[in-house]
Amino acid sequence: MTIQQLNILAVSGSLRTESFNRKALQIAKKIASELGADVREIDLKTLALPVFDEDLRAHGFPESVVTLKQAIESADILLIATPEHNHSIPGPLKNAIDWASDKTNPFSGKAAAIFGASTGLFGTLRSQLHLRQVLTALNVELVPQPQVFIRSAHEAFLPDGSLVDSKLMKQLHLLIQETLKLAQCKKENKVNVLNK
Ligand SMILES: Cc1cc2nc3c(=O)[nH]c(=O)nc-3n(C[C@H](O)[C@H](O)[C@H](O)COP(=O)(O)O)c2cc1C
Repeated sequence: MTIQQLNILAVSGSLRTESFNRKALQIAKKIASELGADVREIDLKTLALPVFDEDLRAHGFPESVVTLKQAIESADILLIATPEHNHSIPGPLKNAIDWASDKTNPFSGKAAAIFGASTGLFGTLRSQLHLRQVLTALNVELVPQPQVFIRSAHEAFLPDGSLVDSKLMKQLHLLIQETLKLAQCKKENKVNVLNK
């Protein structure tokens, strides 16, 4: 198999500056870089998408939406750290996905690695189930295992931003490694099909 450069787009589903998910995302980005991927992050707080409204789009997509769509388009893999709000995907992340998938679907054919941190005992299990379902609807592939749930997030990080639990760290590493393999296969198959 020819090794090709894989581009990753990293997104935190939390806008909060001191967010646990932002912290987890930084760890995941570092792992992905060390594994050889080209990683860039898009910050939903800076992007400041409007609330989804088809009347707005009737005048053309807002610039922030165009930026988001292009960023997704140019990635092979999405790396998403999601919080859990009321047992589901937090509004800002769902809003971003809805805008990005409106009219055209830049997600189609990508791979994604999702994980998340919450202060609750289930560590975003329920929001990840919903996110997996939404991404699958957009033709995104996710490895079935491992799933990474950072529970009691207020106690999960050391002052230097690393995870207290080394087992979780290993799971996150494996999740990213397996997702890179999946994306590599997808890219390889695409090239093979085009060459036929
Ligand atoms: C509106 C709201 C709903 C929440 N619902 C849940 C929940 O369903 N499950 C959970 O584990 N934590 C829930 N939390 C707590 C979050 O896990 C906690 O705020 C966490 O720090 C959010 O992630 P962040 O630090 O990345 O912003 C909720 C928080 C808010 C503000």
